[in-house]
Amino acid sequence: MAGNKALVVVTRKLPEATEREMAALFDARLNGSDRPMGAAELIAAVRFADVLVPTVTDRIAAEVVDAAGPQLRLIANFGVGFNHIDIAAAARRNIAVSNTPGVLTDATADIAMTLMLMVTRRALEGAKVLESGRFTGWCPTWMMGVGLRGRKLGIVGMGRIGEAVARRSRGFGLEIHYHNRTRVPLAVEQVLNATYWPELDAMLPAMDIVSINCPYNANTYHLFSAARLGRLKPAAFLINTARGEIVDEAALADALSDGRIAGAGLDVFEREPQVHPKLLGLPNAVLLPHLGSSTIEARTGMGQKVIANIRALVAGEPLPDRVG
Ligand code: DGY
Repeated sequence: MAGNKALVVVTRKLPEATEREMAALFDARLNGSDRPMGAAELIAAVRFADVLVPTVTDRIAAEVVDAAGPQLRLIANFGVGFNHIDIAAAARRNIAVSNTPGVLTDATADIAMTLMLMVTRRALEGAKVLESGRFTGWCPTWMMGVGLRGRKLGIVGMGRIGEAVARRSRGFGLEIHYHNRTRVPLAVEQVLNATYWPELDAMLPAMDIVSINCPYNANTYHLFSAARLGRLKPAAFLINTARGEIVDEAALADALSDGRIAGAGLDVFEREPQVHPKLLGLPNAVLLPHLGSSTIEARTGMGQKVIANIRALVAGEPLPDRVG
C-alpha cells in the first residue's frame, strides 16, 4: 500500500457519493467512462491494485486471479451475487472476497413484486396497446388478468430477498410456500404463515406463481430445466430476479410461446446483456434490464458496504461481508 493509502481499482462508474468517499479515503482509480473492462484490462489491474472492486458485469475468472500481484488482498464486489468471481482461485491465492448483502434486499423484492403485478395484470401488454394507438375504449371482457389474493406463491430460496418478497406478498393476500435448502426458523414461518416444501419438485405443481430468489452456483445452474418448467401448471407464472443462469432460457421461451405456462417476469438473463430472441416480443413475458438493485438507496448502500470492507482490510480487522 503506497503511502498508506490502499490502491483501489474500480471497474465501473459508481454512484457519485461512493466515488467521492473512495477518492478521499483511498488511492482510487475510478472508471469515469464506465466502459466495462475486458479480461486483459482486468489482468493488468490486478497486477498493481491492492483492492479490486468489480461488479456483476466483470468476469473475475481464475486467469484474472492467477495474474494478480502479491499485493492484491481483496476483491470487494459491488453487489451481493458473486457467481462471477472464482472464489476458489482467490482462496488459493489468499485473496479475500467480500460482497454487499442487505442493502439491496428491499429494492430487489420491490422489482419482484413489480414483475409479479405486471405479468399477472398484463400491464406491459396493455401499455403497448395504448402506446400504439390501438386502445378503443374500456371493454368488459378485454385484457383480463388474474388477481393475486388467495393464490399460492412458491418462493425458491428463502434468504433475505425471498423473505422480503414473502412479506410484501402477504400484503397482497398471497399464500406463502417456500423451498429452501434448510427450513427457516419457526418464528419466521409463523409470521409469514409459510409452508415449507423440502422437495422443489413436489412444490412446483401446486403453485400459481413461483419466485426465484436463490443464489446462482454450480447447484442451481438450470435448476429450472425444461423438465422442471414442465412441472408448473399451465396457469402458473414464473418470476426471476436472481440470476438468469438458474433458468434454461430457451426452454422457458418455448414453454411461454406454446402456452405451457401462463407468463414470466424476468429481470435477469442467461447471457446478459443478450436476451433469448424468442423471449422478445412474447406478450406473456415482462422483461426488465436487470433493475433489481437500481435505486439510489440500494446503490449508495452498496458503495458504503464496499468502502466498509476495504476500510476493515486496511485496519487489519475482520471484513464485515467476507464471502471467500
Ligand atoms: C447483485 O448485487 O448481485 C445484483 O444482481 C446487482 O444488481
